[in-house]
Formats: sequence, C-alpha cells, structure tokens
Amino acid sequence: MTTLSTFRELNGIECGKAVRARIAEAAARVKSKRGHAPHLAAVLVGDDPASQTYVGSKVKACEEVGFRSSLLKRPADIAEADLLRLVDQLNNDPQVDGFIVQLPLPKHINEERITLAIAPGKDVDGFHPQNLGRMLLGLPGYLPATPNGIVELLKHYEVPTEGKHCVVVGRSNIVGTPMAILMSRNANPGNCTVTIAHSRTKDLPAITRQADILIVAIGKPNFITADMVKQGAVVVDVGIHRVDDATRKKGYRICGDVDFDAVAPNSAWITPVPGGVGPMTVTSLLLNTLKAAEN
Ligand code: GUN
Repeated sequence: MTTLSTFRELNGIECGKAVRARIAEAAARVKSKRGHAPHLAAVLVGDDPASQTYVGSKVKACEEVGFRSSLLKRPADIAEADLLRLVDQLNNDPQVDGFIVQLPLPKHINEERITLAIAPGKDVDGFHPQNLGRMLLGLPGYLPATPNGIVELLKHYEVPTEGKHCVVVGRSNIVGTPMAILMSRNANPGNCTVTIAHSRTKDLPAITRQADILIVAIGKPNFITADMVKQGAVVVDVGIHRVDDATRKKGYRICGDVDFDAVAPNSAWITPVPGGVGPMTVTSLLLNTLKAAEN
C-alpha cells in the first residue's frame, strides 16, 4: 500500500510574519503613547558562531517591527562579577524594557547565577524561576520563548490539541519541561495528556509512536526516524544542527532532531528546519518585549 504525502507545514516564517505584523502595530501605539519604541537589549558573551547568528536574528527582528535594540558584546573571558554588574545596570536602566543574556555562557560563568540576577520584570526570555513559577500557576508573566513560540504556531494553524496525547522528547529547563506544562494547561492550545520522554526513557520508539503531537527537543540530528512516528501525527522539531554535506556548496546543511524527509510523509503537520520553530522563538521574544513595554 502506498501512502499519499498530504502533510502540511507548520511554517514559522509565515506564522511569524502574521504575528509580527500585529506586534509592529502595537509597537507603533506604544511609541506614540510614551514617546519611545519598545527596547530589547541582548548580551552576547564570546564569539560562538551559532549564538552570533541567533542574536543577529533577534536584533534584525526588532528592527523589522520598529523596536529599538541594543547588542552588548563582551569577550569570552569576561569575569562573572563583571557580567553580573552589566545585568544589574540593565535591570536598572529605565530605557531598557527587557533584555536577554544569550546562552550558553563560557564554562567559568555560572549560568544559573546570571539567570537569577535578571530582574523578573525584564526577563523576556522567561527563564527566571519567578516567571517559570508564574507559568506553572497560570499567572501573568513572561513565557519561555521557544515553548510559547510553538504554542503560537499551533494556534495560528488551528491544530486541535484538546484531549490529544502530546509526547515531549527532552526535559531541559528552557524547552522540554515548560513545553510539557503549556501543553497540559487548561487552555487552547493545551488540554493535552502529556508524556515527557528523555535520555533514560525505556523503549523510546514505543512512547513516541503513541504521540498525536510529538515535540522533539533532544539536540541530536535526525534522531526521530519514520518508525518512531504514528501515521497522521503532528510533529514539532526544536532541533537545529549543521551536518556535513559534500553535495552542498557550503559543505553542510541544516537539519533538525527529526529526519524530515522520512517522517514528513506520515505526518499531518510538521515543522521544517530551518523555518519552523526558530523564527517563532524570535517572534515570542518580541511578544514578551512588547508586553514589557506595555507594562
Ligand atoms: N540559547 C538557545 N536558545 C536561547 C534562548 O531562547 N535564549 C537565550 N538567552 N539563549 C538561548
């Protein structure tokens, strides 16, 4: 029996454009009301190429929606105390609505200490325990950018989630764990029965095959293969990797945690990589910055 490839893309560029158009209108309203546009600052420590690319796309997105942005670059050998001083300055700078410190940080800096030092009211990444706790309790606050971007994507394409079995692969503080909470909330999108799978899960394929909605944030290229996905599942791929490819001019190609070509034909909906979750993370950061400016 042959299966028709009738999958649809959860396209983060298209969805991001629609959401960003609304953000741009709201930014103009903020500017006319208080005299200056929403302002996001981004701290980039060291010269990790991937982090440079991510921060670059955040700054560019700010320009596109009429936000002000400031990129604060610091050398990889910055002392933790100096970085904490910078965080403190940004916490107290009335010109800055919200800011992020791009992760990962160099090994000699304690990421937890930096995250805790960011004022919860300016934590537009939504990484501070106060914001994560507020999310858990359904109180207003800043939602973590990637999980909230995925929620926005599911909302935009009107993907039904209520009563579905959502399997989240990965349990990181910034993606897997908050994702599981958002999908189980009494909300739309939400109201899923959620399973969190991780590196110690036994017989992972048996779990992922139960997923109506499979969200993968495991950080391993092409990890999810066709045999691990149920026919008609919704597949969301958070991974982004450069893999060697001699057939490409650049010598590499970008792929996700999901083997897209093998999995897509069996899916109802699937995110491409690039152009799926990535642009939505940035969009979500803009939404949080707008919220900070409106407050
Ligand atoms: N590193 C990878 N993703 C993120 C993110 O969403 N925010 C920050 N600050 N660092 C990251």
